[in-house]
This record gives sequence, C-alpha cells and structure tokens, in this order.
Amino acid sequence: MIPASAPIVVRGTGSYAPEKVLTNGDLSRLVDTSDEWILTRTGIRERRIAADHEAASDLAVRAGAAALAAANLPPDKVDLVIVATITPDMPFPSTACLVQHKLGIPRAVCFDVEAACSGFIYVLDLAANLIRAGRFHTALVIGTEKLSSILDWTDRTTCVLFGDGAGAVVLGAGSPAEAGFGILGSHLGSDGAQADLLHMPGGGSRLPATPESLGDRMHFLKMKGREVFKIAVRVMEQSALDLLAAHNLEPHQVDCVIPHQANLRIIELLASRLDLPLEKFFINLDRYGNTSAASIPLALDEAVRGGRVRPGDLVLMPAFGAGLTWGASLIRWS
Ligand SMILES: CC(C)(COP(=O)(O)OP(=O)(O)OC[C@H]1O[C@@H](n2cnc3c(N)ncnc32)[C@H](O)[C@@H]1OP(=O)(O)O)[C@@H](O)C(=O)NCCC(=O)NCCS
Repeated sequence: MIPASAPIVVRGTGSYAPEKVLTNGDLSRLVDTSDEWILTRTGIRERRIAADHEAASDLAVRAGAAALAAANLPPDKVDLVIVATITPDMPFPSTACLVQHKLGIPRAVCFDVEAACSGFIYVLDLAANLIRAGRFHTALVIGTEKLSSILDWTDRTTCVLFGDGAGAVVLGAGSPAEAGFGILGSHLGSDGAQADLLHMPGGGSRLPATPESLGDRMHFLKMKGREVFKIAVRVMEQSALDLLAAHNLEPHQVDCVIPHQANLRIIELLASRLDLPLEKFFINLDRYGNTSAASIPLALDEAVRGGRVRPGDLVLMPAFGAGLTWGASLIRWS
C-alpha cells in the first residue's frame, strides 16, 4: 500500500523527434511566407516532420523506451500507460494500447487522454493521483503528436506553427527519504465555450468523412490565432500563480520554467508577467515548433539531459491548448 503522503517522483525521461527537418525556408516554397515573418512572429526556425510510415504510436514508443531506459526499468514493471495526443494512430483503439504492445508491456491499464497542448499536464496529474491513491505503482506517461497529419499545408496561418515529436516520463511512488520531492501538485482548467478557437471540425461523429467534407478541408486544424494568443498568456499566468500560491511559493523561487512551446512572444509575455528573467525558461521551440501534447515532455527531457534541471530544482510547467484547456505542474526534481 502506498501512503497517501508518498512522494510521486519522476524516475526517468525520454523523447524522440523525427529525423526530417522542415525549415522556414522550406515552408516559404510551399506557402506565401518567409523565414523573417515566422521567426519574428513566433521564434520558430524549423520543425520535425514524421516519415510516412511513422504514426503517433511510433514516436511514443521511441520516447517511452528512452524513458524506461533512463529509469532503468523493465517493461513488466509498468502497470499504467497513459498517452496524451490529438493525433492518435486511429480513432480507436487507443494509442496507449498500441504503445503497450510495441514496448512489450505485459500487464497494464492503458488509455488516451485528449486535452490538446495541455495534454501532458493533464496526464501527469492523473497518473500521479492514481499512483498516490494506491491504484497503480509505476506509470509510463507520454505526450505524442504527428500534427503534420492534420495540418492544412495550404494555410500559412497554421502550417508554419506546428511540428511532430514525443516525450515521456516514468512516474512512481518515492521512498520516505524522497519526501518533499517529485510532483508537488498541478492546477488544471477548461472552458468548452471557446472550443471553436482551435479545433478540427471533421472526422468525428459530428462530421464524418465524406467527399464534401474532404473538399471543404474540414479534416485539418483550424485556429483563430490572435484570440488564442491573448487567452494563452492570461490563463498560463493565472495557473502558475494559483499553483505556486497553493504551495506557499513565489515565482522567484522557481529554478526552471518549462512552458508549452507555442510561440516565443507568448513565453516572453509570460516571463514578464511572472516577473522572471527569460533565462529561467527552457525554450526549444526554435527547433521543434509547437508539438502540442509532446511539447513539454520533449522540452523536459532535453532540459534534464542537458543539465538545465538538476536535483533539488523547482520546475514549473505551464500549458494551454484547444478545448480550451490549460494548467500547470510543479515538480521538485529528485
Ligand atoms: C498565429 C500568430 C503567430 C499570428 O501572429 P499575429 O501577429 O497575431 O498575426 P496576425 O494573425 O495578426 O496576421 C498578421 C498578418 O500576417 C499574415 N500572415 C499570417 N500568417 C502568415 C505567414 N505564415 N506568413 C506571412 N504572413 C502571414 C496575416 O494574413 C496578416 O495579414 P494582413 O494584415 O494582411 O491580414 C499568433 O497569433 C499566435 O501565435 N497565436 C497563438 C497561436 C498558438 O499558439 N496556438 C497554439 C495554441 S496551443
């Protein structure tokens, strides 16, 4: 039995980015855009694009295997697999079940969560609480996306922003010696009234695929970018402040912020509203663009492996995305 007060710690992290690099220059040959426009408006220089044979589960398997290796954990010790994605291999079965099979995890409860770019923050909180409740011992938590499969490559207002990738963490109950470390808590929010700001209209039960829906380009991501921008800054700031206040902490006590990597201008505004120097933020969106549910775990893995996150550090991870959804997680790194 796991005591309710047991710390829930990250045992290992992993990530995977497909080989193919698509630069802003490459995009300027596809749509009416330029490296200068994309870089100054977003901070993105390039993004990764999965190969035709790679689906979201394949990216997830690479990230998940790396996280298990970092945790030095054999697959048979995992009893929970949760995948956050808006680009599952197919509507069903869940991508988590496909990942379980490919990783050779013999016995686990596996399911997907769909909370778009906030997906990883949602599944991290869910997995931590399921372990804390004593239901499971060890969780593999993954964010994975092949957003290139739902982008309209004729729409310059969206196709320049996103990319493909995956990130994963292994979570487990810590020992009494690890008290005070691990996932300290999360703050989550949703507002379905704003669903139409960022969505994909086709392909579900509302609008199944028909020749007309395909012709009307309904099976692609649609976004009202300017509206999303304003809300993103506000909800990420509020989530971060509420979460820190719930733990009697102030922003300046945070050692590293790993934000959802959507737009450098959003991150800069967040930094100024939290009164934190940009140097405290780990940023890799210049190389990956927005990889939705994969963005935070991919950045976390790079920050950990690159020595930007060290034992004892207080790590804040704010996110926002379609739904609308938003949230933040706080980890004392162990
Ligand atoms: C999308 C975003 C980069 C657009 O930047 P912006 O400064 O708001 O730009 P606007 O939408 O006001 O467009 C300004 C002009 O650039 C044009 N434009 C849009 N995309 C362009 C592109 N890729 N290349 C060149 N011009 C482009 C627009 O058509 C518009 O032209 P107009 O003034 O002639 O109408 C920005 O709104 C954003 O990042 N929003 C948040 C999106 C996001 O993070 N979504 C993910 C949520 S998880």
